[in-house]
Amino acid sequence: MEKRVISTELIEEDYRIENSLRPKLLCEYIGQSKAKEALKVYIEAARLRNEPLDHVLLYGPPGLGKTTLAEIIANELDVNLKITSGPAIEKPGEMAAILNNLQDGDLLFVDEIHRLNRQVEEVMYPAMEDFAIDVVIGKGASAKSIRLDLPKFTLVGATTRAGMMTAPLRDRFGVVHRLEFYTVQELVQIIIRSSRVLKIGIDNEGALEIAKRSRGTPRIANRLLKRVRDFAQVKYDGNITGEVADSALDLLEVDKNGLDTTDRKLLLQMIQKFGGGPVGLDTLAASIGEDSGTIEDVYEPFLIQNGFIARTPRGRVVTELGYKNFGIEDEKI
Ligand code: ADE
Repeated sequence: MEKRVISTELIEEDYRIENSLRPKLLCEYIGQSKAKEALKVYIEAARLRNEPLDHVLLYGPPGLGKTTLAEIIANELDVNLKITSGPAIEKPGEMAAILNNLQDGDLLFVDEIHRLNRQVEEVMYPAMEDFAIDVVIGKGASAKSIRLDLPKFTLVGATTRAGMMTAPLRDRFGVVHRLEFYTVQELVQIIIRSSRVLKIGIDNEGALEIAKRSRGTPRIANRLLKRVRDFAQVKYDGNITGEVADSALDLLEVDKNGLDTTDRKLLLQMIQKFGGGPVGLDTLAASIGEDSGTIEDVYEPFLIQNGFIARTPRGRVVTELGYKNFGIEDEKI
């Protein structure tokens, strides 16, 4: 059977570049050891019983490998993968058509699954539980509901906001994994692997410098690697050493702790305008002209996990470490 990856959402070119760096099998996948070990067992069990894998929900900040894992699961199971996303599907009929066109065992990956609308979500309940959809035929008094059987598929849902999913949808996933930020050592391995794929000369110090400044995120590590390569080729001999990476990342305005311009703007605004906090999310978002959802999904998780800011019942506050990042003393500490 020929394997197909159908993308209704991602722009083909971006998809192709990012895809070339993605591991294709679990044994090539670096990091996320808990999710990886568990998935290995579930995939093997499903294969042994010749049954579809239970539905899988992956959640966590963007760029940590949710789509990559879905592709790997499809490859390991040797089934087709269909990729779509919550906001791309507007009508129940569209979801019904996607489900109906799957083959037994296929994987359906729904990114940003928390953004499925209510009517579409309701199609998913019987589809996930009984591999069936209820279709209403006719109108008014003569309307009838009939149940259509679907192929026995596996849904892989991904979300940056597990808290925004409804309980009935969340509860229908048999396997749930939170993806974690990567350690510096894991990112070093990923950067060295990507360099091999892209034929970039890099030493351990170069990889370490990029890894330390990648916010625990492979997508950022790979993006910085490509930018640092540009500097290495234009200003140096093409190879990435610690020194080359250090000066390129300074020029790219990624600081020693991996904070980018938006991270710094957010922290500085909290310090200078709100006396270090506490400040509410919406107030903060408005004051730096960012969307509050983006701050919550993209910026805050890393800043909180690494101790630059903290959440309190009265709002967000800058920690001592957050002040230290700018060489500022906090008079309250
Ligand atoms: N490239 C991006 N993410 C990766 C991962 N987790 N393992 C290996 N290579 C990757």
